[in-house]
Order: sequence, then C-alpha cells, then structure tokens
Amino acid sequence: MEKIKVVIIGMGRMGKTRYDAMKRHGGYDIIGLCDTDPARGIYYKEPFYSDWKLCIDQCHADAVIVCTYNVVIPDIVCYALKKGCAVFSEKPPGRNLADTLKMQKACEGSICKILKFGFNHRYHNSVIEAKALVDSGILGDVVCARGVYGKAGTPAFPSEWRNDRAISGGGIMLDQGIHMLDLMYYFMGKFTDIQSSVNQLVWKDMDTEDSVFSILHTEDGKVASLHSSAIQWRHKFSLDLICSEGFISLNGLLTSTMSYGEERLTYYKKDLECKTGGLGQPIEHTMCFDTDESWDYEMKEFYDAVVRGKPVLQGTIGDAVNLMEMLEGIYHKNSIMQAE
Ligand SMILES: NC(=O)c1ccc[n+]([C@@H]2O[C@H](COP(=O)([O-])OP(=O)(O)OC[C@H]3O[C@@H](n4cnc5c(N)ncnc54)[C@H](O)[C@@H]3O)[C@@H](O)[C@H]2O)c1
Repeated sequence: MEKIKVVIIGMGRMGKTRYDAMKRHGGYDIIGLCDTDPARGIYYKEPFYSDWKLCIDQCHADAVIVCTYNVVIPDIVCYALKKGCAVFSEKPPGRNLADTLKMQKACEGSICKILKFGFNHRYHNSVIEAKALVDSGILGDVVCARGVYGKAGTPAFPSEWRNDRAISGGGIMLDQGIHMLDLMYYFMGKFTDIQSSVNQLVWKDMDTEDSVFSILHTEDGKVASLHSSAIQWRHKFSLDLICSEGFISLNGLLTSTMSYGEERLTYYKKDLECKTGGLGQPIEHTMCFDTDESWDYEMKEFYDAVVRGKPVLQGTIGDAVNLMEMLEGIYHKNSIMQAE
C-alpha cells in the first residue's frame, strides 16, 4: 500500500482520534506531531514539535492534518497549502466566513488543491443509510426537517477555549450545532432565508451562546428547524426528515462516550390507503447501528484524494463556505445576542 507522509498539528482529543484512524487505515506514515503543550507528546514515539511552522518546514510531509483551536486553523491551513501539502482540517473551517474565504483562496492558488474539512457526521452509518434512502426516491423529496443537537456543558464549560470567542469564534452553534446544520444542508441544500434566536439562557458569564433556535428556508421552499444546545443536560441527537412520501428519523449517535444513546434510523412510507396499518400507523422499519466508522471513512476518502486523485466528496471548501455563510446568517440576522 502506497504510504503518504503526514504530520498532525494539535494533539488533543481530535489529534489522537485522527492519529488512531490513520494507523488503522495503514496508508499513512505519520512523520511528525505538533502541539504547543509538550504534555500532549509523551505517549508518542514520532518526532514532536511545539512550533507548527517548524514542524511543516522540517518534516516535508505530503499532507498536514490540523486539529488545533479554531483561531489558528486558517494560518496553518494556508501555510500548508502554500507549501504544496494536501490538507485535512477539523471543523469548523475557522472562526468565521472571512477565515473560510481566506482558506478557499489559498486552496485555489495551491499546487495540490486538496483541502478537506472534518464533518464526520455525514459518515455515521445512520446518516449514510438515510442518504441512500432519500437518494433512492422511495420516500419522495425531503420537504422539511427538525433537528436537535444538545449536550451538557461540563463544570469547566465557561472557561473552556470553546467558549472564548477570540479563540473559537462562537459558542455551541459553531462548535456542535454546525454538524446538525451540515446534515440539514446535506439533505436539503443551502438555506438562504434564516431566522434565529441566539441566547445565553443558563451559562450567563460566558462570552458565547449556550442555545440557538433557528428556522431555515431554502430557495425552493424547504424548511428546517434547528436547536443547538449546551443546556440539554442529557446528551441528545435527533433529526427528523419529513418527505413527500414518508418519514425518516435519526435518533442517538454513536460516540466514544456513548452518551448520545444507541444510533438508530426509523423510516416509514406514507400509507393513506391503510395497506400496512391503520391511518396514521404505517408499518415502521428500524435499523440500529453499533459501530462508529465515521473517522475511518473520512481518512479513507482523504487518502484516496491524495493517492488516487479521487475528488473530495464531503467537507469540501465549497461546503465550508456555504456553511459559514449560513452560520453568519444564524448569528447576525434576527438574533437577540449579537455575535460581536
Ligand atoms: N469532528 C468532530 O466531531 C470534532 C469533535 C471535537 C472537536 N473537533 C474540532 O477539533 C479541533 C480540536 O478540538 P479538540 O476537541 O481536539 O480540542 P483539544 O483542546 O482537546 O485539543 C486541541 C489541541 O490543539 C493544541 N493547540 C492549540 N493551538 C495550537 C498551535 N498554535 N499549535 C499547535 N497546537 C496547538 C492545544 O494545545 C490542544 O492540545 C477543534 O477545531 C474542534 O472544533 C471536531
């Protein structure tokens, strides 16, 4: 198997997750790691750097994996692209749209032109099945959706880097809600008319929001409601896709903590002639998933882009720009707590 030489910048939780997925894949030769915190390096045998520029300059990698805080993502991504490297970066694509556009420009001007962002939720097995169901056409078109993605902030939540606006760019919506927005965008297309209520309902001493409600419309009249919350207290993931001929519901999401519950997909076809049950009770089909291979699918897609010249399909820079445009809409239009 042809190996690509990679370095990982940022060896916190996601750096380790990506490291493990690349090891499982087998096509990655990890030649350098970097983190400003030296304690992050003690478990690894690879050369360890504290300066990301030095790491990129000295390692001469084919690809750079970026898993740092949001604020440094654009600089590292742009520098790596300029150096001719393919780049895989964690979401969000920077702190704001301006950051994302900067990376888009750098990608367009680069030799390699491979840039992928880690929107791993598209690779959860329930989402893959839901997409196949929608694409099969048996349930008709997705016309509207309801999504809730909520977690409990930890006791240290207000002091986490995620809630320091200068470092993160936004609160729970940018950190976690962006995955739900990405899924809605994946199933329904871009939302162009956005109303939202961005609030600090419980964590009042932070400089970011702990709750966002948003109503989103596409140009062709589809509508979605999204609730992103850091005050759900019990972790929750739920996405209903209402289709012209049926319904799909995704509930629970497999993660390392298992705190979002079992991942399951339920669907039914509309049955107004009561062929499979009473009115309003059509036969329901349920699938349960017991593995999370999202990280592996993502690293495989990135490898195939770098080695086999295949296109990046998910988490493209185009997706990133669209998502950040929608996020600007959520934060700045009709919101109670303005982002800046
Ligand atoms: N895809 C997902 O589902 C998912 C889940 C969690 C986090 N993320 C994203 O991954 C990124 C990292 O999050 P995390 O949970 O791993 O955070 P983390 O705090 O566990 O790790 C971030 C690491 O980056 C290091 N770092 C910060 N600035 C640096 C710099 N200039 N140079 C080198 N290292 C630097 C920090 O020291 C820290 O070790 C964030 O952008 C986050 O949004 C994605």
